[in-house]
Amino acid sequence: MLRLLTASLLATSALAATAAEWQNRTIYQLVTDRFATPDGSGPPCDTGDRKYCGGTWKGIISKLDYIHDLGFDAVWISPVVANLEGNTTDGQAYHGYWTQDINSLNSKFGTADDLKALSAALHNRSMYLMVDVVVNHMVSNSDPPDYSNFTPFSKESNFHPECFITDYTNQTDVEQCWLGDKDVPLADLNTEADDVVSSLNSWIKGLVSDYAIDGLRIDTVKHVRKDFWPGFVSSAGVFTIGEVLHEEPSYLAPYTKVMDSLLDYPAWFTLTAAFKNNTGNLTALATTVWQSQASYLSGELMVGSFLENHDQPRFQSLTQDSSLIKNAMAWPFVQDGIPILSHSSERIGADHHSYPGQEQGYTGGGDPSNREALWYSGYIEDKPLVTHVKILNEARRLAIAANTSFLTTAALLYAVSESTLAVSKPPLLALLTNVGNISTAATTWNVPDAGYPANEVLVDVLTCNKVTADNSGGVLVHATSGEPQVLLPTSALSASGSICSNLAAQGQSSSALRNVVASALPVGIAVALVFFVSQLTFDF
Ligand SMILES: *[C@@H]1O[C@H](CO)[C@@H](O)[C@H](O)[C@H]1NC(C)=O
Ligand SMILES: *[C@@H]1O[C@H](CO)[C@@H](O)[C@H](O)[C@H]1NC(C)=O
Ligand SMILES: *[C@@H]1O[C@H](CO)[C@@H](O)[C@H](O)[C@H]1NC(C)=O
Ligand SMILES: *[C@@H]1O[C@H](CO)[C@@H](O)[C@H](O)[C@H]1NC(C)=O
Ligand SMILES: *[C@@H]1O[C@H](CO)[C@@H](O)[C@H](O)[C@H]1NC(C)=O
Ligand SMILES: *[C@@H]1O[C@H](CO)[C@@H](O)[C@H](O)[C@H]1NC(C)=O
Ligand SMILES: *[C@@H]1O[C@H](CO)[C@@H](O)[C@H](O)[C@H]1NC(C)=O
Ligand SMILES: *[C@@H]1O[C@H](CO)[C@@H](O)[C@H](O)[C@H]1NC(C)=O
Repeated sequence: MLRLLTASLLATSALAATAAEWQNRTIYQLVTDRFATPDGSGPPCDTGDRKYCGGTWKGIISKLDYIHDLGFDAVWISPVVANLEGNTTDGQAYHGYWTQDINSLNSKFGTADDLKALSAALHNRSMYLMVDVVVNHMVSNSDPPDYSNFTPFSKESNFHPECFITDYTNQTDVEQCWLGDKDVPLADLNTEADDVVSSLNSWIKGLVSDYAIDGLRIDTVKHVRKDFWPGFVSSAGVFTIGEVLHEEPSYLAPYTKVMDSLLDYPAWFTLTAAFKNNTGNLTALATTVWQSQASYLSGELMVGSFLENHDQPRFQSLTQDSSLIKNAMAWPFVQDGIPILSHSSERIGADHHSYPGQEQGYTGGGDPSNREALWYSGYIEDKPLVTHVKILNEARRLAIAANTSFLTTAALLYAVSESTLAVSKPPLLALLTNVGNISTAATTWNVPDAGYPANEVLVDVLTCNKVTADNSGGVLVHATSGEPQVLLPTSALSASGSICSNLAAQGQSSSALRNVVASALPVGIAVALVFFVSQLTFDF
């Protein structure tokens, strides 16, 4: 334990600057095979086949303007290393999660020069490259695996003895037994063995340096012992965000000490449940956030926040209610962590099926309908949800620019009820509701502690409607549409920006320079909920 704490402190301080550099960014997650082809063609992509469809790193380069136009300044791509080739009962390795050779690239996605060109093209736009990596396992299509197919881990002794995970409440089972099944076993690397650890550490150092990678997304983190991670993270030398698929903040909390950031799965579970219909519960979302703010190393400030993920049907397959969708999509952009516009999919067996396209309104539910290639969308930007994303990205950027404390001060949650939630990160105040688009019931958000200067003129950047703070800086808003509202003072808008720029306050001092009353204390830390849904903890 002492060793773990010491190592993690070293890792955290060594990377602090890099993590801080990621904190003011927003991330577009894409699946390399399904994002864009190098020649701009739109080949048929029968999702049910689970085969490579033709997206490449050169294809991504050709569509960087699309991602940049949406307002993202970082891109998370699929794993890049060589994968199992040919067919399996779960299809082909187009998602990139079936590593066989960590020292070679996946030639389906391009050459080393192509990947370097992608990195350079991103950096040329001041955007960051995040690469997905898997260190927990190597993947075979035979049982037992033919270990000689694996590079450099070509010996059975490089792996934990074969046993498939059966008990997700037993952490030893989770860490040392195998994911997958006998058709596609995910052979679990022996990450207790010094030679395996040193190979992985020198590999990641080389990968990051060869391709000038700015950050890593790390797969299946909870399946490797916690004290493996600080050494790996410091060898990488860049920002790391880990996947710990679990719904309880108390399970994630210790992992916040061994890498920079985690994907915010606990809040994702309550977020999805809160907004999927008008009987969802926003108090449950707030409760998860309070628990996470209280127990994570940096509260929620360093989580990666998302609405869609690899393991579930798309949010828009759960509801077609435009108001619910806009509310749920707003959440990642108005809370404490790093927003990620992610893709969704349903996982079958040991497979990862992942798709971009939340902003294009993709609605795929289960296999195979959730597997659309983005080229079918035409990358059209003139669509309501694309506009929604652009506004949310710019609103966050304006709020960061207006307040140097934005990224370092925890959100305060007000007006918490089953159907309303106000998220306060001054100067930004988001008003969310799950009453839906057909509601005739009035929604009211009463936020006396909003902390604005008296009578400050605010704008809902989603509609450009004005709202005026009361004479003690509070906000009281009534609505009937069920739409979210994202409020910023006119003084935080930019006359040269693209949102409500005609309302930007002229010749005024920036609100960041004003003397405002400090916000109220946190509403409270809720008592930890202990619920136990082992079904939801499967993690590949
Ligand atoms: C993020 O912060 C850095 C300084 O740390 C600044 O150079 C950069 O412009 C900021 N980016 C955004 C999008 O605010
Ligand atoms: C893989 O499977 C697909 C359909 O299941 C089939 O059309 C194709 O020929 C197979 N390829 C190989 C290399 O076995
Ligand atoms: C960087 O951007 C400039 C201006 O758009 C362009 O001329 C140049 O070719 C780009 N370089 C790379 C490496 O993409
Ligand atoms: C936990 O899992 C390990 C590995 O499968 C097993 O050896 C051990 O007996 C299990 N412990 C309990 C209490 O079930
Ligand atoms: C909302 O979703 C929950 C959970 O799936 C379900 O039990 C409930 O019936 C749904 N309510 C409505 C009004 O559809
Ligand atoms: C909503 O969530 C809160 C906090 O988890 C809980 O106390 C409350 O009972 C929930 N309401 C309903 C109707 O389930
Ligand atoms: C409103 O939501 C319903 C589902 O609740 C959906 O069928 C309808 O298309 C939505 N209307 C608009 C204008 O988004
Ligand atoms: C900046 O953020 C801090 C922390 O949330 C808050 O106390 C302060 O009022 C904010 N200032 C402005 C001008 O929004």
